[in-house]
Amino acid sequence: MKVLVIGGGGREHAIIAAVSRSPKVEKIFAAPGNAGIAALAECVAIKDTDVDALVTFAYNNKVDLTIVGPEASLALGIVDAFEAHGLKIFGPKKAAAQVEVSKDWAKNVMAKYGVPTARFQTFSDYGEALEYIHKEGAPIVLKYDGLAAGKGVVVAETMAEAEAALKDMLLDEEFGKGSVVIEECLRGTEFSFMCLVDGKNVLPLPIAKDHKRAYDGDKGPNTGGMGAVSPVSLIPNSEVEWSYNNIMCRMAEAMVSEGCPFSGLLYGGLMLTKDGVKVIEFNARFGDPETEVVLPRIESDLFEVMYEVASHDLRTAKLSVNPNLCLGVVMASEGYPKSYQKGFEIQLPALADGDVIYHMGTKRDGGRLLTNGGRVLMVEAMAPTLAEARRRVYETLIPGVKCDNFFFRRDIAEF
Ligand code: AMP
Ligand code: GLY
Repeated sequence: MKVLVIGGGGREHAIIAAVSRSPKVEKIFAAPGNAGIAALAECVAIKDTDVDALVTFAYNNKVDLTIVGPEASLALGIVDAFEAHGLKIFGPKKAAAQVEVSKDWAKNVMAKYGVPTARFQTFSDYGEALEYIHKEGAPIVLKYDGLAAGKGVVVAETMAEAEAALKDMLLDEEFGKGSVVIEECLRGTEFSFMCLVDGKNVLPLPIAKDHKRAYDGDKGPNTGGMGAVSPVSLIPNSEVEWSYNNIMCRMAEAMVSEGCPFSGLLYGGLMLTKDGVKVIEFNARFGDPETEVVLPRIESDLFEVMYEVASHDLRTAKLSVNPNLCLGVVMASEGYPKSYQKGFEIQLPALADGDVIYHMGTKRDGGRLLTNGGRVLMVEAMAPTLAEARRRVYETLIPGVKCDNFFFRRDIAEF
């Protein structure tokens, strides 16, 4: 089988590493890929948003399965375009990708089908929104209704912060013209629950937890994620099971009823509150960096399962999961998530069994490996205990990575 993976970050590196373990896979292409991916796949210089070029490439190269990483491709309707050409593709159609692309749509479906989530209301009028936040009071959460590269959410602890965020989103149109979902601020422990869904059947992956803030102690600006761990000791199995039945399966059923069955990877960003588990958000794709710590634990043939999902015929009833814990720490460019420089040389250490380094933003220049993004590497260890995984990552692997422009968090998986 020939596989094409769309995207070029750590998530796609982890997907490609998992798929490459399948005896059924003989060739992998990545568009555009990165320097780490190039060791496992042939990288082709096509952007993830160039849907026409991707369709043409898959068709001409007789690709058997295309796997979509980024949400931008899904929002453009890449799955509809591939299927219209008879090409098999893993991911939701444009109508189902709304579960991530439109926060308002997702919240309304959750409300209609009783999927537990924070109380909310949606506004496009600035005056009405202002009145609502004054009535509700702080803390309060404002979410721009559209894709905003992870920057469209403000958890306002004070009324002044809420007013400033509202002005940015609705008056100054920082992310474009649109509306804002304003919701109740929940408190609790967040975790990520990813499930493979073929429209009807829902197959759970192990849960994970990422760390969104840039600096130790959950300080500093929000990022795409500075590290992750799977499983999550803070979340009891009974709550995972409850979430599977009452959140993930219920949402998949709701989407069938709404006429847009979800196929691909449904990501639940969930929070265990004192009133039980509630949805913070859904995504329509693999989480990044959660995927990097979840997929190494999957012992089943992931290619086979993804092929079943893309065929809307999920037969695998249960995944075989390695009981070891996987801990990953992101090494990011100084300055990230604000402005940063690229092009610094990196040297990588030799890896022992169970250790992995996924590339998030790298490129090759001749023989040299260079930084090429905000988040550059995800350095990981799998071990029976958190203490051992931490020791391997922080005392052996990270000191072995040589580069002049990195920072990282020292407290990943310390809760
Ligand atoms: P999102 O992009 O929707 O995942 O939001 C980004 C982050 O904002 C989440 O990971 C949460 O930490 C926080 N957040 C979002 N919605 C809420 C909420 N209703 N209550 C508390 N925190 C929230
Ligand atoms: N790690 C959160 C996300 O992928 O959206």
